[in-house]
Amino acid sequence: MSVQIRTAVFPVAGRGTRFLPATKSSPKEMLPIVDKPLIQYAVEEAISAGATRLVFVTGSSKRAIEDHFDTDSELENALESAGKQDLLKVVRDIVPASVSCIYIRQGQPLGLGHAVLCARPAVGNEPFFVHLADDLIHAEEPVLMQMRRQYDAHGMSVLGVETIPVEHSASYGIVAVETDQAGHHIIRQIVEKPKPADAPSNLAVVGRYLLTPAIFDRLERTGRGAGGEIQLTDAIADLLHDEAVAAYPFSGTRYDCGSKLGYLKATVELGLLHAELGADFAAYLKTLKA
Ligand code: UTP
Repeated sequence: MSVQIRTAVFPVAGRGTRFLPATKSSPKEMLPIVDKPLIQYAVEEAISAGATRLVFVTGSSKRAIEDHFDTDSELENALESAGKQDLLKVVRDIVPASVSCIYIRQGQPLGLGHAVLCARPAVGNEPFFVHLADDLIHAEEPVLMQMRRQYDAHGMSVLGVETIPVEHSASYGIVAVETDQAGHHIIRQIVEKPKPADAPSNLAVVGRYLLTPAIFDRLERTGRGAGGEIQLTDAIADLLHDEAVAAYPFSGTRYDCGSKLGYLKATVELGLLHAELGADFAAYLKTLKA
């Protein structure tokens, strides 16, 4: 039977220092890929996986995210008067009326684990998605939907994972897995940002999680870990003592839009796929010298 995961948590309170000065007064999650901000790609993915409650964990300089998902009557009236019906639809469709947005402040950016814990009162006692908007994944079937199907099959928390060059292990949570008879990859170990020599594998956790609410009690007792931050990875390691957690190698292409190179790759590749300008953009790229 298919379980509905109603709530998606979007931790968007990080400082985004790798994009300074662009992120000094405006959130990293509002950086556009072609014509849509990263956070809108994130929200669309969660909604298509069935989420109806979107919980944004925000911090300072993040007002633009709230404004983006609010109705802007002045703009809508102006577009209507100008007869710009297509754009009016684009603006009105940002969030369907059946979906609610909840904003929670993370007073200080103490880490991803702490940001997820801040969402506890809004999530309650049910499984939920966590989506990191700066990991943009282009996929035929939205990755959160793929993960929901995994959860339907085995009822365990699911972490989206990808194979990485082991020399990059210090940028990720790394898992060691065992594959059970049903073909599910059960996590035996998870470590945050290990040095390549200490990495238990080259399987990295990326920004997609489907978690049971048991994670919250673990987060309550998780101290500061790698980088002095309260790490979600450490709480998941604690959860492994009591609950099985699965790793899921999703299908899709991930762009690390928290890094400048990943952001540029996403811009080029999604630009080439864009219905209106893909062909012109491809022709332009051909004119550039190699
Ligand atoms: P990152 O470490 O990638 O993001 O956190 P950052 O801190 O914003 O960026 P840099 O490294 O300084 O450039 C992963 C995700 O966790 C969120 C971030 O917003 C990002 O989506 N996060 C991180 C929080 O919401 N709160 C935190 O305290 C830390």
